[in-house]
This record gives sequence, structure tokens and C-alpha cells, in this order.
Amino acid sequence: MSLIKTFDQYQAAYQKSVNDPEAFWAEIAQEFKWRKPWTKTLDWNFTDPSIKWFQGGKLNITENCLDRHLTTRADQPAIVWEPNDPAEPGVTLTYRMLHDQVCRMANVLKRNGVVKGDRVCVYMPMVPELAITVLACARIGAIHSVVFGGFSAQSIADRINDAQCKVVVTSDGAYRGNKEIPMKDTVDDALIGCPSIERVIVMTRTRTPVAMLKGRDVWLEQELKHVTATCEAEEMDAEDVLFILYTSGSTGKPKGVVHTCGGYMVYAAYTFQTVFQYDTSAGTQPPLFFCTADIGWITGHSYIVYGPLATGGTSLLFEGVPTFPDAGRFWDIVDKHRVNIIYTAPTAIRSLMGAGLSHVAGHDLSSLQILGSVGEPINAEAWHWYDDNIGKNRCPVVDTWWQTETGGILISPIANVTKTKPTFATLPLPGIQPVLVDENGAEIEGNGVSGNLCIKFPWPGILRTTWGDHERCRQTYFSAYPGLYFTGDGCLRDEDGYYRITGRVDDVLNVSGHRIGTAEVENAINMHTGVVESAVVGYPHDIKGQGIYAYVITDDEQPIGHDTDLTKRDILATVTRVIGPIARPDKIQFVTGLPKTRSGKIMRRILRKIAEGDTANLGDTSTLLDPGVVDEIKKGAI
Ligand code: PRX
Repeated sequence: MSLIKTFDQYQAAYQKSVNDPEAFWAEIAQEFKWRKPWTKTLDWNFTDPSIKWFQGGKLNITENCLDRHLTTRADQPAIVWEPNDPAEPGVTLTYRMLHDQVCRMANVLKRNGVVKGDRVCVYMPMVPELAITVLACARIGAIHSVVFGGFSAQSIADRINDAQCKVVVTSDGAYRGNKEIPMKDTVDDALIGCPSIERVIVMTRTRTPVAMLKGRDVWLEQELKHVTATCEAEEMDAEDVLFILYTSGSTGKPKGVVHTCGGYMVYAAYTFQTVFQYDTSAGTQPPLFFCTADIGWITGHSYIVYGPLATGGTSLLFEGVPTFPDAGRFWDIVDKHRVNIIYTAPTAIRSLMGAGLSHVAGHDLSSLQILGSVGEPINAEAWHWYDDNIGKNRCPVVDTWWQTETGGILISPIANVTKTKPTFATLPLPGIQPVLVDENGAEIEGNGVSGNLCIKFPWPGILRTTWGDHERCRQTYFSAYPGLYFTGDGCLRDEDGYYRITGRVDDVLNVSGHRIGTAEVENAINMHTGVVESAVVGYPHDIKGQGIYAYVITDDEQPIGHDTDLTKRDILATVTRVIGPIARPDKIQFVTGLPKTRSGKIMRRILRKIAEGDTANLGDTSTLLDPGVVDEIKKGAI
């Protein structure tokens, strides 16, 4: 695949992708290994919705991520693993070694009853076995559902039950910074309510004592003794499901976003190569790419595993956290491994910025060529800090906007091609046709405007459905503005036609780059015995981007009397138990009433203003059932 090297080439590619999208994508897709070519490049409507790319095409994504490279780069590192503890030796897996291990793991899955189409829940730390398990599922046509290691037993159970998973792959424990996290215990708690699970495969990481139930639980190390490194890849249809990844929306429980084999592969690889100017052509060692996300999120799926490997790149996988053993850890890794491209989240940049430049000093960052940002809006201060102190003003900063549902990056500068502008994701990649719409769905044309961000034409990486509930997919993304995919984001397009994503316009929060629905947090809070009702909103937070502010009404019969601090802690523990620590409110304010309209709807606009500390401009409160409640809330604001 030839890289876009100049802005003229970008414009030409963009034009082609709009004039003849099918020819544009067919040319890119042809570069991959297909067992059988597709017969129809694209078939779509956004009404049902029904989106099919490369119909009739047969492939296996792991043949593209592994086998294809064995003739040309078998001894090149595919994955470089950096453990949580810098004193522990790391692991480098070449393409040959990774191929071997994926085949072995695939055989372990088969031995344990997994067949094509089965769902496998993966709940693991950031160790090579996580990437290996994901690829092993893909090898045999099983559908992986990776659950981020920070989610609670209840969240795991919800996801397992929704997808009716047959097998869980997990570890005894996990290392995160100076903490040891129980993984198997959490899975055991989850499985009390998961009758579909027949087998739990447990790898050892911390060698913590764990319960091992006969007939259900097996040790990965034992299983590996019984298998060979030969495993023929299953032939998959381009539109067969590759994976499910759960993500939060404004209502209800998280939904399982579904991505399919052909389109997702093409899109993850194309965007990886294009945005990061990732060149594998020379036959020499390609750049070392360090994506700091967890494979439990879409960023890890697309830009730690599938994008880099489908491209023949080298991907660095880091087990730990940015602040352990100190806030210089990322820069230590960059220095030690000579990282060329780093891809991280604004929340990490802000927290490292807060730790001070002394943590950057003393690390040789001269290997860096490109800096990426993802997951939330990047504020100007963080953008400049990253540019000045990490890139030393010689590395382009690519602020990449996209979503779990989009499979890969949609709006972003192309490194060294697109002129960057702090806080702007800049321009759509080839193949992406963004539109801004007003509340009524009318397209807002021209520049210097803002509105709700929609996309009007499919790209290969767009979600196909939400698992088990297609109607929910239609409702959530394709019904607000008929004929368009609605992103849920607000956006402005400046005089240069550059896009800046301003944040969600629905009830979805983005806390430290983690996507959380306000309704989900409310449901969790409401599960506390003493809570009558709650309302959750986001507020600006210096490090996390958004913090969680909860207004809570309790009953009068708290056994702990008026010890509100203890009640708050109980509520936090409840949320941790129901969702996980990432959803814990930063602030809890006890109130006796919530601002509701006469029809009973909570006026969140008012609660948001109060949480933001903007109590002078609450707007019209005359439609409230009891306007007095607002004064009380204002007085008690934290
Ligand atoms: O609001 C946008 C924000 O993150 C949301 C998607 O979250 P998730 O599905 O978890 O995927 C995150 C990783 C791709 C979007 O709706 N978002 C993501 N990237 C950016 C962003 N907001 C502003 N600028 C970005 N670069």
C-alpha cells in the first residue's frame, strides 16, 4: 500500500474515495491475503441499517497478521512486551514465535470445546498471552469479547450473559503499578450467574492461590503441554463476526458493538499505516509503535493488535501504568526500547504534565518521530506540553478522533502531511464523509460552523450491529438523523474546514478517556440500600477531562445516622462492586430533591451547570415542578 506523502496526494485520495468509494477501498483491500476474492465491494443502507463490505470474500485475519509475514519478516519482532516492573525481563516475540504461540493457543481453545462462532470472554492483564488469545480466537473463527481488567464481576457477568460466552480466558492475578489485582477471583464471582460458561482457562501471572474447580477450570500451562504449533486458520466470510466489544451509551446497559473480519481488518490496517505514516516497505526493521491503551478498549484492539500486525509492524505492549515506579515510566520505555511512535491519551499527558518535567529529564527521547493522541478532546495546554517537551517540536502531534463503533480513526491529521492545529483533529481521512447537522437534522454547510457530527457514507470499519439487538443499533446510531450515522459528538468546523470535536452531546461521559453512561452510574448508585434516587452528570476535571458528579437522595432510615461520609464511601463501594473503580463518582452531593419538570423529567442542564460551578446562569427554571429545590442544591454544591 503506498503511503500518502504530500497534502496534494491526500486531497487526490480523498477525492477518489468520495467519487468512487468502492474502487478506492477495493484497491486497498486487494493488498491483503484473501482465500477467495469478494464479488461485491459494498452493499449498504443506513435505514435498516445493513452494511456489507467485500461480500463473498473469504479470509482469515490471522493469516494476514501472521502467516503472510513469515516469508518476509519471520524474525522481525511483532510484539515487544514491557512488564509492569521494570526490573522484570521483558519478552520479544518475532512473527515466527507469535505465529507458533497463536496456533498453540488456538489448539488449546479447540481442545476445550471452542468452535467457530462460539464467544470467548477474555479477562486478562496486559501480557503477551492477551494478544495471543485474541488472535487465537480469530484463528479458529471464535468471537472474542475482551473485557477490560478494571471491570467488576457484575460487569463481566453482564457481558458474558449478553453474548452467551462458552469459555473465559483469564489469569490468576494481575500487576498494576504497586498493586496486585485478583483476576480469577473476580471471574469466579462473575460466574455464579453465568450458566453458559463451560470452561475457564487460567494462565499464571502472579501465582496467587486461586480456586480451581474440577470440570470447569484448567491451567493454561498444563493445556499447552498437550498441543502442537500447527493450526490451520479457519476460512471466514468477510462479514463473519470477528469480535464483540462492549461500550457505554446514554441508556441501559453497555451494548456489544460488532465488528466483522474483512472490513475491520482493512480499515484498522489502512488507518494505522496512513495516520502514522507507517512504512514497512524497506525490508528493514519498521518503526516501533507504542500504543499505551489497554487491549480491553477499541484502541488496543485496532492499534496494538490488528492494525500493526496486519501491516507487518512492531507493536509495544506495556503491562503497567504511566506512574509506576514513577511518572517517568513512559519516557523510560521510549528511551529503553527506542520507541518511534507513541500513541496515548490526553488524560495520561495531563497527569504526567502535573508530575513535572523532572520526570522527562534524563530520558533520551530522540528516537520519537510521531506523537499520537486519542480518546478525548485534548486541551491546548496538554497539546503544547506534549509537542514541546516530548516531541521537542520536531514530531507531529496527531490528534485522532474515532470511536469503538468506527473500528478505526476517522478524523485526524496524517503525520507530516496535514498541517496540525492544537485541539483540532483536523481533516477526515480518505473514505470518511463527515457532516454537521442541527437539532432538526438539517445539514449545516460551509465553514465557521458547529453542530452534531454525523457521517453520511459507510467505511469498511463501521459497526455492523449491536450483539443480539439490531434494533438498538438502529435506534442509537441511525434513527436521530435518517440516512446518517450519528456519532453522539458535538463538533465545530473552523474557517479552514478543520474539525474540532467538542465532546459528547448525549448522556455519555468520558472520564480519563473511559466511556461511561450516566444512566449506568445512576443504576449502580441506586442499588445501594439507602438510595432513593440519583442523578449523575459530568463536570470539567483537570486531569481526567471529565469527573463524575452524583446528586443523591437517600431515605431517612440510614442505620448510620448522619454520618454522610460513611454513606458516601458505601455508595462508592457499591459502584465499584457493580461496575468497577473507573465509574466511581468524584463528588457525591446529598440532596432532598432533584430539579424535575412537571412531566417528571430531570433537568440535567441545571445539574450540569451547578456541577460546573456556574450557578449564576442556570437559565429558565420556571418549568420546574419545585423551583425551590434548585436553591438547596446550589447551596450544597461541592
Ligand atoms: O467523544 C468522543 C471521544 O471518545 C468517544 C469514543 O469513545 P470510545 O468508543 O471509548 O473510543 C475511544 C477511542 C477511540 C468519542 O465519541 N473521543 C475519542 N477520540 C477523541 C475524542 N474526542 C475528542 N478528540 C478525540 N481525538
